[in-house]
Amino acid sequence: MRDEEGDVDKRQGPLYGRDEADAMRGRDDYWAAENRAKWDLLLDNLGPCERLFDLGCGWGQFLREARGRVPELWGADESPDRLSDIKEACPEANVVTCRADKLDLPDGHFDVVVTSQILHEVVLFGTDKETEAVLSEIRRVLKDGGRWLLLDHLDPGPGQATVTLPPRAIEMLLEFERRFAAYRAVHRDIEDCGAVELPRRCLQDFLTKLWARGSAMEEMEMRETHCIFRRWETIAQAERAGFRVDRWILFSDIRADLERVGGKLVGSRPWFRKFLMAATKA
Ligand SMILES: C[S@@+](CC[C@H](N)C(=O)[O-])C[C@H]1O[C@@H](n2cnc3c(N)ncnc32)[C@H](O)[C@@H]1O
Repeated sequence: MRDEEGDVDKRQGPLYGRDEADAMRGRDDYWAAENRAKWDLLLDNLGPCERLFDLGCGWGQFLREARGRVPELWGADESPDRLSDIKEACPEANVVTCRADKLDLPDGHFDVVVTSQILHEVVLFGTDKETEAVLSEIRRVLKDGGRWLLLDHLDPGPGQATVTLPPRAIEMLLEFERRFAAYRAVHRDIEDCGAVELPRRCLQDFLTKLWARGSAMEEMEMRETHCIFRRWETIAQAERAGFRVDRWILFSDIRADLERVGGKLVGSRPWFRKFLMAATKA
């Protein structure tokens, strides 16, 4: 499929159907601690806000958190299956089903737009020009001086990490390396100390995609890398789109993900694998 300007659309219909939406809901407990940190960070950075718009809102998990804090709540998502529980999670939310690059919403309407872990999907699965179009839509629907909170996965860069992993996790790493299709993922055994060395990007994708093994989300996760956004490129892109970047906050320590599988970083620096960027419509 091509849009009016001939840009190739890499997909037909929403990324998440019923099975994928159910698989995500089924893992809410797995991500509970991480989500708590995510919602708290967003709430702490909301600032004065009468009207909030959560773009890529899923089943309304953040809108539910913002209830009582913000008088008017709005959410949009392209997937009717992801949105199907939103009225239960946040009955007062105004909900729109649409793609992020063509928001069915008026100009200058919101104090704050939140995009939490949607933009990497736009970059990876959208058309070449879609990210630009999404940023332009976010700017359009914001009031003058309105704020955009972008929360997403950070690229940890090209270095290597050395880790110890228990045998079960090594088995899962081998399976991940066989199936992962976003790039060639490989590790190297360090025989004398029982550790493995692998690219930081590979470790980050492995640890953050384990949850999807055997679920309806596995196929999509195996085609998508979580090593997406780089700080200065992201800031430059936001500035080109007409935003002034006010804050860049790192969170989500890779060591917590390693602990989940009984692993440890040995002899390499830890890193944060997510960021929150706060920007103002310039
Ligand atoms: C990984 S989930 C994130 C959900 C939630 N915001 C969070 O932080 O947990 C990404 C959401 O964005 C939606 N999405 C992805 N691409 C989209 C697009 N181009 N337009 C609208 N929604 C999109 C998906 O349907 C999904 O609900």
